[in-house]
Amino acid sequence: MNILVVLANPKETCFTRDVCATFCSEAHARGHEIVLRDLYAMNFNPVASAADITGNLRGNVAQDVALEQEYVQRSNVIALIHPIWWIDRPAILKGYIDRVFALGFAYGYGPNGTRGSLSGKRGVLITSSGSTQEHFNESGKMKAVEVAQDLGTMEFCDIKMLGHLHFAPLGSRSTPTMVEGYHARVRDFVRSRL
Ligand SMILES: Cc1cc2nc3c(=O)[nH]c(=O)nc-3n(C[C@H](O)[C@H](O)[C@H](O)COP(=O)(O)O)c2cc1C
Repeated sequence: MNILVVLANPKETCFTRDVCATFCSEAHARGHEIVLRDLYAMNFNPVASAADITGNLRGNVAQDVALEQEYVQRSNVIALIHPIWWIDRPAILKGYIDRVFALGFAYGYGPNGTRGSLSGKRGVLITSSGSTQEHFNESGKMKAVEVAQDLGTMEFCDIKMLGHLHFAPLGSRSTPTMVEGYHARVRDFVRSRL
């Protein structure tokens, strides 16, 4: 399968980058083709302009967006890999969604309202937080992330979710053994779901 991996973390050394490498190498070893879009390394412009919002409807799409849309179009699986920042995506990834998953490309209007246009594609989310999984579950934060991302982005565009791996805690409350376990979960996921 063609897997588009979109990575968002500015740090050169971080869990997100490591776990992305684990995901890509496991998928590559199983014969999948990977296209990695490292948004910070690309210096991707995340600010949607008025022209971007209607670009696909008018057939006048900014060059950088058209390139990313080509990668989306060619993919069978789209994997978004990022840390949780303020119970959300880093702004650069939010802006990538705003500009690339645009009206007329990723969704459109049908007789019953909006309709996703990326049917047939599958989605993967890999996220992490400083807080524990228990805190995320009990506080409703996990639900908030899932509603915004699994439902509000992927399913909205008719991308069927293969899975959302959330790793917590990361940072001062995680141990090397816990982190190794997180990587093992990613390898298991690739083997069993892709
Ligand atoms: C700007 C910023 C906002 C953050 N917001 C949250 C948050 O809302 N909830 C949380 O549990 N952790 C939060 N964190 C912690 C990160 O999620 C955590 O450090 C990250 O998942 C570790 O992955 P990394 O090594 O790839 O950066 C935040 C970190 C930063 C830098």
